[in-house]
Amino acid sequence: MKKDQRKVVLIGCGMVGMSYAYALLNQSACDELVLIDVDKKRAVGEAMDLNHGLAFSGSNMKIFAGDYEDCGDADIVVICAGVPQKPGETRLDLLRHNAQVFQSIIDPVTESGFNGIFLVATNPVDVMTRITCVLSGFNPRHVLGTGTALDTARLRYLLGDYFNVDPRNMHAYVMGEHGDSEFVPWSQAMLATKPVLQLCGESDGRYCEESLAQIAEEVRTAAYKIIEAKRATYYGIGMALTRITRAIFGDEHSVLTVSAMLRGEYGQKNVFVGVPCIVDRNGIRRVLELNLTDREREQFAASCDTLRESFDELGL
Ligand code: 2OP
Repeated sequence: MKKDQRKVVLIGCGMVGMSYAYALLNQSACDELVLIDVDKKRAVGEAMDLNHGLAFSGSNMKIFAGDYEDCGDADIVVICAGVPQKPGETRLDLLRHNAQVFQSIIDPVTESGFNGIFLVATNPVDVMTRITCVLSGFNPRHVLGTGTALDTARLRYLLGDYFNVDPRNMHAYVMGEHGDSEFVPWSQAMLATKPVLQLCGESDGRYCEESLAQIAEEVRTAAYKIIEAKRATYYGIGMALTRITRAIFGDEHSVLTVSAMLRGEYGQKNVFVGVPCIVDRNGIRRVLELNLTDREREQFAASCDTLRESFDELGL
């Protein structure tokens, strides 16, 4: 990655893509942002709108509507293109249609000479990330998806509220599919360095495992509730994408629950799935392997099986 410029090409200028772009601008998280959409006019309009906010932002980001050739010297290509989830529809229902969309995207990106990192947000994100890896032929360490990064943020927010503690001091992860089979490994959840299960045991009923289970369920169903209420979710995922982008450009070695390919970790392979990973300027530095309980390993394996089955159905 070149040190003197931080270039992002965003493919897909819908609500998710533009929430990401808006967050990037507000956080000055890159130096150049190229917008691509099947509807070129829309990309041009979005670039104009963002540029008109530039003078208020304190950033001197270069923002313009471009083409696939612009990917050639980009550091990160972020894919938010695809059809959105409809009320009542699962993320996996979206798969077939979005897989077709990706076939028309990945080829021109690789033909541009792009040699950076693919970051995918399109749902079902774990399978779409794997499709990106297969179609591009990239090293899997340079292909990542938003995975359960947003679910983990939702979990920390709710745990912070429950324990009345800054969510940044709640160390807990959502793992597995970004979707129905995701789960919280509670054995690994801490308030600072104090296990939350221990806190429940010591609190004379003030905190309990039933409430933790409710919190996990609230996280799992959050997107359905938001979609029901306002048709789509976009700010949260836009912020999650921005966080991952910053971790890459900053070579932060931050631990984020992104969708990464497993090569034997947790006894799994041939699957892209949300797991805590160390993210650096090259993408996935390392997949962390937590000490899950037997039950948690089973939940994780079931989630991986679901994802593998969806991918296999495509017959790619
Ligand atoms: C979300 O979890 C729908 O995947 C989107 O907000």
